[in-house]
Amino acid sequence: MTTKNVATTAPELAWLGYCRAGFERDLGIELQGRLGGAIIEAEANAGFVRISCPIGRAKFHASVHDLIFARQLLLTCDSVVALTSNDRVNPIFEALTRFLASQGIDHVVDCRVEYPDTNDGKALSRSAKAIEPRIRELLTEAGMLAGDSKYRAMILLTPDKRAHIGVAEMQLSSQDRLGIPRFRMPADAPSRSTLKLAEAIHVFLGSGQDEALQPDMRAVDLGAAPGGWTWQLMQRGLRITAVDNASLKGDLVNNAMVKHIRADGFKYAPNVPVDWLVCDMVEQPARVAKLVAKWLASGWARCAIFNLKLPMKRRNEEVERCRQIIGEALGEAGKSYILQVKQLYHDREEVTGFVMLPSRGERFAHNVVARDKSASASQYRPKKAHGDANGNVGAKGEIVKKAEKGAARPPKSASSSGTGWGAPVSASPALKRGSTLPRAAASPWSVKPLPKRKKAKQAL
Ligand SMILES: C[S@@+](CC[C@H](N)C(=O)[O-])C[C@H]1O[C@@H](n2cnc3c(N)ncnc32)[C@H](O)[C@@H]1O
Repeated sequence: MTTKNVATTAPELAWLGYCRAGFERDLGIELQGRLGGAIIEAEANAGFVRISCPIGRAKFHASVHDLIFARQLLLTCDSVVALTSNDRVNPIFEALTRFLASQGIDHVVDCRVEYPDTNDGKALSRSAKAIEPRIRELLTEAGMLAGDSKYRAMILLTPDKRAHIGVAEMQLSSQDRLGIPRFRMPADAPSRSTLKLAEAIHVFLGSGQDEALQPDMRAVDLGAAPGGWTWQLMQRGLRITAVDNASLKGDLVNNAMVKHIRADGFKYAPNVPVDWLVCDMVEQPARVAKLVAKWLASGWARCAIFNLKLPMKRRNEEVERCRQIIGEALGEAGKSYILQVKQLYHDREEVTGFVMLPSRGERFAHNVVARDKSASASQYRPKKAHGDANGNVGAKGEIVKKAEKGAARPPKSASSSGTGWGAPVSASPALKRGSTLPRAAASPWSVKPLPKRKKAKQAL
C-alpha cells in the first residue's frame, strides 16, 4: 500500500504488529488510533505493520487482545538488522542484547524467531527454526533467561533478508507462535467453519469456557448449515436450535440435542430465552449487528458470538459502526455489556464478535471492556480501557478482577483433551510448565446457566 503519514525522522522504537496478509492498512490505522505514531512500514500483503513509537512512550500500553486486526504486538528497535553475511546468529544476538539493555531488560523468559504468515514468509520457517535455538543458547550463556521475566525476546525475519529485533510483553501478547492458535480439524465435524467457533471460544472465553458453555445450556445457531458451529456447541453438551433453510449434515441429522428449523434467521424468534446466540449468516455486517443487538436487548439471549463479513474498504469504520449499533441498542435497553471484536486466524474477509450481558457479581472474561449502561455509545472508547492489569472494568468502571496467576484448570471433560472438538493443538511451553499464565489463558469467569424452564413451548 502507499504509506501515508510516513515518519520523517527515524524513531528509536517502533511497534510491530502481525496481521493477516491484506489487512496491513486496517491494522496500521488501528495501531495509529491506539498508540499514536506514524506508519513506518505497511506493505500490502506483508503480514505485518510497523509504526513509530515516540520516545517516552516506550512501554506497553496496548494489548494484542484488545486489538481487532493484530495477531501479535511487539515493541521493536527501529534499526533493522540486515542479514547479508553467512553469519546471521551473531548480528541478531548483538542487536538483541543492545536493544534489551537500552530498554533496561536484563532477562527474558525465552526467545522466538518468527516470520510473517505469507507465502514468502513461510519460506523462512527453516531459517527461523535453525536460528532460534542458537539465540536461546547465547541468551543462556549470557545468563539472560529467567522464567519470571515479563518479556519474551522476539525476532521477526522478513523475506527481504532483514531481522526485526523486539520484545513481547507476556501478559499483553499472544503466546501462540506467529500469533496463531492451532486447532485440529475434528474428523466428525460437518464443516471447517467449526474451527472458527472453536477459536472464538478459545480467544474470547479462555480458560472460563467450561463455565461459560455448560451442558444443558440452550443455544440458537442462526445460519447453521451444514452445522460446524452447531456441532461445536453440541460437543460441549448444549442443546441447539439450528436455524437455516439449508440442510444440516452428519451427526446433526436426527440428533436429540439439535432441533433444525428451516426459517429465515432474521425472522426467527425463540419461544423461550436462551443462553447463547451464535450467528454465521453471510449478510451485511450492520444487519447482523442489529440482529444480535435485538436478541440481547430483548432478553432472548445473554451471550452471543457472531461473524461480521467485512467490505473490501473502510473495514475499521464498518467494525466501529457495528459496535455502535450494538452499543446503542443495549444502552437504550439499559443493559451493561461486554463487547469484543477480533479478526481470528480462521476469519478471512471477516471478524468475529463476542457480546455478553454480565449478571450481577459476575466476573468478566479476559480482554473485554464493559461500559456504564448510562453512557452513550459514542462515549465508548476501547483504547481508553482502564481497570486492572487486564483492562477489566466493571459496569460502572470499577476494577472487577485482578489478573490471576496460577496454572490453567485442567479440562473437565474428555472432549476437551485437545483432540476432540478442535481444542488448541498445543499450549505454549510457558503454559506447560505451569508458570504464570499469560493473560489470554487466564480468564476464569462464571456464567450461570439460565434457570431450567419447566415447559418450553418450542423444544430447544
Ligand atoms: C457460512 S454458512 C454457515 C456455516 C456454519 N456456521 C457451519 O459452521 O457449518 C452461512 C449459512 O447461512 C445461511 N443463511 C444465510 N442467510 C440466511 C437467513 N436469512 N436465514 C437463515 N440462514 C441463512 C446459509 O444458508 C448458509 O448455510
